[in-house]
Amino acid sequence: MTLQTILTAVTAVRVSRRVAVIGGGSGGVVTARFLKRAGHSATLFEAGSAFGGVWADDPTNDVVYQGLQTNLPTVVMQSPDLDFEPGVPSYIDKRALGRYITRYADEFGVAQLAQFGATVTSVTPTADDRGWEVKWTCDGATQSANFDAVVVANGHYDKPFVPSLPGEGEWLAGDASRSIVHSRRFDDPAEFAGQSVLVVGGRSSGVDIARMLNGVASWVYVLEKKCEAAVTHENQAVTHVPLGTRLCADGRLRVGGDGNSGGGGAGAAKEPPAEPVPGPPVQRVILATGFEYSFPFLDEAAVGMVFKGKRYVTPLYQHMLHVSRPSLGFVGVPLAVPCPIPYFECQAYFMAEHLARGGGGGSGDGSGDEMTTEEERARWMEQRMEAVGFETGRPMDLHFTSAGGGSPWGYMRELLRAVHAARPPPVADDGASADGAATSWVERADCLARLETVEAVYSDRGGRYPKLPWHDDAYRRCEYTVDWARGTWSVDETGATRAKRPREQEQEACEAAQ
Ligand SMILES: Cc1cc2nc3c(=O)[nH]c(=O)nc-3n(C[C@H](O)[C@H](O)[C@H](O)COP(=O)(O)OP(=O)(O)OC[C@H]3O[C@@H](n4cnc5c(N)ncnc54)[C@H](O)[C@@H]3O)c2cc1C
Ligand SMILES: NC(=O)c1ccc[n+]([C@@H]2O[C@H](COP(=O)([O-])OP(=O)(O)OC[C@H]3O[C@@H](n4cnc5c(N)ncnc54)[C@H](OP(=O)(O)O)[C@@H]3O)[C@@H](O)[C@H]2O)c1
Repeated sequence: MTLQTILTAVTAVRVSRRVAVIGGGSGGVVTARFLKRAGHSATLFEAGSAFGGVWADDPTNDVVYQGLQTNLPTVVMQSPDLDFEPGVPSYIDKRALGRYITRYADEFGVAQLAQFGATVTSVTPTADDRGWEVKWTCDGATQSANFDAVVVANGHYDKPFVPSLPGEGEWLAGDASRSIVHSRRFDDPAEFAGQSVLVVGGRSSGVDIARMLNGVASWVYVLEKKCEAAVTHENQAVTHVPLGTRLCADGRLRVGGDGNSGGGGAGAAKEPPAEPVPGPPVQRVILATGFEYSFPFLDEAAVGMVFKGKRYVTPLYQHMLHVSRPSLGFVGVPLAVPCPIPYFECQAYFMAEHLARGGGGGSGDGSGDEMTTEEERARWMEQRMEAVGFETGRPMDLHFTSAGGGSPWGYMRELLRAVHAARPPPVADDGASADGAATSWVERADCLARLETVEAVYSDRGGRYPKLPWHDDAYRRCEYTVDWARGTWSVDETGATRAKRPREQEQEACEAAQ
């Protein structure tokens, strides 16, 4: 970086904005923190009664099922700015993560910015089109206020994506007791005890639900794209089946052929009927097929966006900024995020700096210091769509940052570098932010090294992740220790160093009392 660039960067005019943040999950909490640090005035609206989002004790979205253990270790989930409390094991339960998010909000002054029980119902451009009118309901009353900018962080694991399965109509018609539910409604494997269940989808929900059902259900079939041909475990009642597997009226699964066998009657087969997959007829189906985006407070036509009923959101620059209305931002849109809190910190840091540089319009300084122009944002969007084959292939890959030749780590690095190019990191921990607090990791010159350590631990955990539906989750018994200053880490595969989880402590106390 030349001296001239540095001088331009540090002397740039900064703007303070009134910003509404929608959502008090980790995305919203992190966003409010970085807005405040950059000198903006943030108001966080949370429909529920506390911070934490899906990890709150009493969440507005109860997608996190009973007994769920995180599938990422704490050293990957945590912000580099705030450790989990000593003694917390690497893989934790819902309440421990909820407590951490609340502690983060307290530690970084977000609690004072929040309104709880406030459900945002509409976000519309103001009459002069220089800001946003936000309406919300609280205690039955509707209120409204105008803001310069809005950041949406309302999460996206609430509205199920429900694809139709080959043969599902015949299968449902074959027996009135058959049913299809989405993982969003899954809570307790005992509800499926003794039944033969087809789980559709092979990412986190599919993998975990299939494992929990194994040994509880009478049979578990797992249908997913990584499977090439149907295969059953030699000692367990679990069968892996590929895409194209069809449900038939007799309850059996069939792969290939015309799918009409199995008591279908009416339709005469045009080619030899497919052989049924070994195993009993399917009684229940669980769709672990993911979610759609939903922003009920935004009118697609009025704001020039497309997202309703979709697994993507357009047009967003860097998955964050509305291309032509960059005072409307989103944090947390990407999918398969390897380390949600640090990831949201990179997004929020970028968003806060973008607004502080006059991005989003109305800066009035005319200094031309904005971090992006509309033309650049539109070009980025076009290139991204082309890279993932948006028009011709899989539009849902738009927000998988690893699709189209990228990676989530590359994405985070790109955001950090963009902010640092506009505003070089302070040379020392000098409390150089508007809130006077200590320098955050994202602001430090060594932030990329920090990210490398997180990536290395994540990659170790990835190597241990179950590959087949009958593999257990031994990876969750690993304990990670990290020396952030040196960038070194170690893993204890036996879990011997792991602190006891609350449930284990309770069980031990019970046994001791007997
Ligand atoms: C089953 C499941 C398991 C997961 N496991 C892990 C894991 O092990 N580790 C991990 O790191 N991540 C995990 N995740 C990812 C998880 O979603 C993220 O960790 C993180 O919680 C996402 O935060 P968020 O703020 O984007 O969304 P959320 O946590 O969903 O928070 C959104 C918030 O917005 C509020 N809100 C919504 N609409 C409005 C409105 N109109 N007005 C006001 N407030 C509103 C909601 O009440 C909610 O509090 C899991 C997700 C799921 C679904
Ligand atoms: N802590 C935990 O243990 C835990 C447990 C559950 C969930 N989670 C988290 O929750 C979030 C959501 O995970 P998720 O697994 O519910 O959703 P997801 O990541 O969106 O995965 C859904 C899967 O279903 C597949 N799918 C969609 N339609 C299909 C069809 N018609 N036939 C076959 N497969 C189909 C998708 O395939 P494509 O890839 O081809 O689209 C995708 O692989 C993630 O952040 C995840 O990490 C965590």
